[in-house]
Amino acid sequence: MIGAGQLARMTWQAAVSLDVGLHVLAASPLDPAVSAGAPYTLGSTDDPDALARAATEGDVVTFDHELVPQGQLRRLVDDGHLLRPQPAALELAQDKLAARTTFQQMGIAVPAFTPVSRPQDVHDFAERHGWPLVLKARRGGYDGRGVHLVEGPAAVDSMSLDTRGGSPAWLAEEHLELAAELAVVVARRPSGQLASYPCVQTHQVDGLCRELVMPADVPAHVGRQAVAMAESLVAGIDASGICAVELFLTGDGRLLLNEIATRPHNSGHVTIEACRTSQFEQHLRAVLDWPLGSTAMVTPAAATVNLIGSGRDGEPWRGLAAALAEEQASIHLYGKQSRPERKIGHVTVLADDRLSALERARAAAAQLVAG
Ligand SMILES: Nc1ncnc2c1ncn2[C@@H]1O[C@H](COP(=O)(O)OP(=O)(O)OP(=O)(O)O)[C@@H](O)[C@H]1O
Ligand SMILES: [Mg+2]
Repeated sequence: MIGAGQLARMTWQAAVSLDVGLHVLAASPLDPAVSAGAPYTLGSTDDPDALARAATEGDVVTFDHELVPQGQLRRLVDDGHLLRPQPAALELAQDKLAARTTFQQMGIAVPAFTPVSRPQDVHDFAERHGWPLVLKARRGGYDGRGVHLVEGPAAVDSMSLDTRGGSPAWLAEEHLELAAELAVVVARRPSGQLASYPCVQTHQVDGLCRELVMPADVPAHVGRQAVAMAESLVAGIDASGICAVELFLTGDGRLLLNEIATRPHNSGHVTIEACRTSQFEQHLRAVLDWPLGSTAMVTPAAATVNLIGSGRDGEPWRGLAAALAEEQASIHLYGKQSRPERKIGHVTVLADDRLSALERARAAAAQLVAG
């Protein structure tokens, strides 16, 4: 697995149960998967030598992020390595403009958007779609970094959008009034078998996912439509492994595709406790082309609350004993230093209804981070 963050750490936990040999490419010996004991190669994800050395350790190469440049991915393929997902699918998680364009061509509903290479492109788009609008960095954004709400024309001119004739580095899209944000985690084997988890409903603050519930609190037909959209997308792009599909439900009832991640995803952490097979075990099964596990829920409802760092000293460990007093709470700490706006763990609670699950998960989380 290229990358050794919390996703690799939790994949490692699943690999231990199946006795799958997981080897990670880590930037530092302090990375979450390495501190949990995963064997590793030390090196940067854009260093071709490090990538080649790590790739040689396994039969299949997979990822805990989408940061490896396309050129390097293609080189690994040319060197005979089996990449799952394959570079073309990964590109749709790397490049928001390529993704929007491809999804639209596939007939999947997406927000209105346009490529932006100079301020005038934004003004032209606003003339058709109005203010405010959303400007997104084409590449490299995560946790809301790279996403900007633009209220009016004055704000555009103060941003440096010019790419001097190069390819567009931004896209503008309509600002949507959101009734809900949904996510569907889908697993797909290279041979075609698909399995989807029930649709979750996520809650973002400043672009960062704070908490989610499973199943989503939307009418059953909306949940079914979200799963159907996600499955046709994942099959259509020939992805393998876990693919997380983020969707917007608008105030006027439209279901639109936002973005995808071609790896285990924050919106799937809840599956560790709430479903028969966790997304991490499922990712291993899928990339190894082994039979997928059941995605059925083992509880009527579940909630996950992310632990977002405040940078306070001793966080989150100082509060661990107090949080464990909430006996329904499953606590996952990633072994990361607390920093403001950084995800350093999560808490999941299963219950008979969403609200009880959410309240108990919030109570445990409040012991661990300064909210
Ligand atoms: N067009 C839009 N209209 C309204 N809100 C939006 C729009 N696009 C994004 N947002 C808000 O910003 C959040 C982050 O956007 P997006 O998922 O595109 O960016 P990201 O930083 O790549 O996210 P992630 O953390 O999932 O990687 C969304 O979850 C949503 O809350
Ligand atoms: Mg997102």
